[in-house]
Amino acid sequence: MTAVGIDAIEIWTGKLQLDLPGTFAPAKGEDPGKYTKGLGLETSSFPDAYEDIVTMGANAAKRLMDRKDLDPQDIGRIDVATESAFDNSKPVSTYIAGCLEQVYDGDFHHANKGERKFACVAGTQSIDDAYNWIKAGRNRGRAALVIATDTALYARGDPGEATQGAGAVAMLIDEDPSVVELSTEQGYGSADETDFLKPNQQFPSVDGKRSMQVYLARMREALEDFESVAWDTHPDDFAYIPFHTPFPGMVRKAGLLGYRHMIRDTEIEDALEGRIGRQPREEDFDDWEAYEEAIRAYMDDLKETEEYQSWYADTIDPTLNISRRVGNWYTGSVHIARVSALRHAAANDVDLQGQKLLVASYGSGAQAEIHAETVADGWKEEIEAADLEDQLQRRYDLSYDEYEQVHDRHNHDMDVELEEFTQPDGEFVFTGWGRMSERK
Ligand code: CAA
Repeated sequence: MTAVGIDAIEIWTGKLQLDLPGTFAPAKGEDPGKYTKGLGLETSSFPDAYEDIVTMGANAAKRLMDRKDLDPQDIGRIDVATESAFDNSKPVSTYIAGCLEQVYDGDFHHANKGERKFACVAGTQSIDDAYNWIKAGRNRGRAALVIATDTALYARGDPGEATQGAGAVAMLIDEDPSVVELSTEQGYGSADETDFLKPNQQFPSVDGKRSMQVYLARMREALEDFESVAWDTHPDDFAYIPFHTPFPGMVRKAGLLGYRHMIRDTEIEDALEGRIGRQPREEDFDDWEAYEEAIRAYMDDLKETEEYQSWYADTIDPTLNISRRVGNWYTGSVHIARVSALRHAAANDVDLQGQKLLVASYGSGAQAEIHAETVADGWKEEIEAADLEDQLQRRYDLSYDEYEQVHDRHNHDMDVELEEFTQPDGEFVFTGWGRMSERK
């Protein structure tokens, strides 16, 4: 059976940055430690005046096509995953294809284009669609381009404001992939939830605390479902576990949940079940409070064990290095976590080929998806060739006043005059909502 998976990855970060401890915290009158230690963030990326989800996505895709020496004939499918779309009819992939057609010989008239929406999990769903399309033999030798692109902004004053970010991840899905091979082992946890919504609005309505509980509940279900097909899972089976990362502090909680689940320590549930004679349910309120308290105490103890701390340092912490510097990229977030892990392995000369990753994606609304991947033989060359560090270093550092202007402008408010803080450098630039972006 031919292997199918991710053959190449390129990232485009918004060209501006906001320093959370240095600029955001003093303006908000907050202790910088809330952002650096609590949420786990240092800086967030923002788009300059001439950037949006189309230009960031097109620029990431062009970088990928140039590096892999591809032209439009090599690509049979373009899927864009985003929760920042500005057009309820035309998919963002058509705008991105229009950009790319300005610079390559040939066009994408033969390509199937679409837009996937399920909050942050849509990037992974697009990869699944591409995998299925190739495995079904409908690709006629062509690869799929999956682009996860978002401006993840919250209203000013919303607790989510500290977790913002913007950028795009372009991924080539193909046969005999160089980076990772996808497997058929997958698990889902999905339920209708209303903790995070954007009904015809640019900034989300969020119940932040509840959104964290929903994330963990769906993730636990997805793990259980995953284990029904890959039932002998152990935390040490995986070199890295990239989670959807709205902010690194969330992954600290998810990592602990995943670890406890995989070591199959059900001591507390078993004890309570023994007491009430069946699986505990929420309506067992008196017992439920005691149960929750017991779980909390148990998790606090587990977190302090040497085994857990060393596992977390090796398997989870390296997935957070990029997120700390860019914030939440919604659909791109879990894919940045994968890149972060692979960059860590490359920098430390880890021999990853053949090792497994467990990728834990999540989208509000809400759905978690967990799948296993195997690292392929070309991973190191691919990850080292992808341009990222330079882009992160070159970002323009916003003052708080400048940040407020950028924020207003990217709330789809075209009346806000905004100077450009950086210069376009041979890239696609925004010319107006619904208009063709140009290359400058
Ligand atoms: N020093 C060190 N730590 C500090 C601190 C200080 N001075 N001050 C606070 N902290 C810690 C807190 O103890 C807390 O850590 P724990 O959760 O481990 O206890 C952490 O910093 C955050 O502090 P608060 O809980 O007080 O922060 P908040 O209430 O202002 O905001 C939030 C947190 C609700 C998550 C908010 O950021 C938010 O609404 N974010 C958007 C929603 C979100 O990202 N949800 C995540 C799940 S949904 C999802 O994943 C989809 C998606 O992409 C949005």
